[in-house]
Amino acid sequence: MSIHIAAHKGDIAPSILLPGDPLRAQFIAENYLENAVCFNKVRNMLGFTGTWRGQRVSVMGSGMGMPSLSIYVNELIRDYGCQKLVRVGTCGGLSDTVKVRDLVLGLSASTDSAVNKIRFKGMDYAPAPSFRLLHRAYEAARARTLPVHVGKILSSDSFYTHDPDQWKLWAKFGVVAVEMEAAELYTLAAQYGVEALTVLTVSDHLVTGGDTTSEERERTFGSMVEVALEAVLG
Ligand code: HPA
Repeated sequence: MSIHIAAHKGDIAPSILLPGDPLRAQFIAENYLENAVCFNKVRNMLGFTGTWRGQRVSVMGSGMGMPSLSIYVNELIRDYGCQKLVRVGTCGGLSDTVKVRDLVLGLSASTDSAVNKIRFKGMDYAPAPSFRLLHRAYEAARARTLPVHVGKILSSDSFYTHDPDQWKLWAKFGVVAVEMEAAELYTLAAQYGVEALTVLTVSDHLVTGGDTTSEERERTFGSMVEVALEAVLG
C-alpha cells in the first residue's frame, strides 16, 4: 500500500491509462476491459486492473491538475512499478489547425506551472513523451482514419485565467491545445526512466468557440481509449 493508493504490489499492471476523472476510469474498465477488478477507492480515485485483447492493463483516475496527477504517478511508478503511462483526457483547442473532437497527441508540454522551475533550480526543462508510445498511438489513430494531430500542448495550472487573452502567447509559438497535467506526467516519466504519453480529444475551442455535446464526447472518448490501449500494449 502507498499513501494514496490502497493496492497491494502486483495489483496494478505495468501499463496504465490515466483519465482525469475517476468515473471515466470506471467507464473504461466496464466497457473496454475484461475481468476488471477495482484496486483503489481511497478518495474515490477509482483504479481497476483487467485485460484488453488478453493483455493485462490498469486504468486509474489522476484527478485534475498537476499536483493531483503528481501524487498518483509518483506512487504508481515508485511503489507499483508502472512502466507505461498514458493520460487520456480533454483539451481546449488553441489553433484553427485542430478542430473540436479531433485527437491531439502531446509532442511536448510547455507549462505555466512553477513545479519545474523549482525542480530545475530556475532553469527550463522540456517535458516530452516517449517516442515509442507516440508513434504507436499515431499509427493506431491513422489505421482508424481518425483526425489526429501530433502537436505542442500547454499544461496550465489555471482553467480560469484572469487575462482572457493569455493563451494567445502560447498559440503564437505553435502550441495547439491546453490541458492541465501532461508536463508533470512527462517529467516524472523521465525522472524514473519510464514511458509516458498524453492522448487528448479537443472538447472546447478558444479560437473558434466550438463545444461538444456529451454524446459526441462519449463517442470520441471511445476512439481515444482504443488508441491509448493500442499504444500502451503494442
Ligand atoms: N483549459 C484547460 N484545460 C482544459 C480545457 C481548457 O480550456 N479544456 C479541456 N481541458
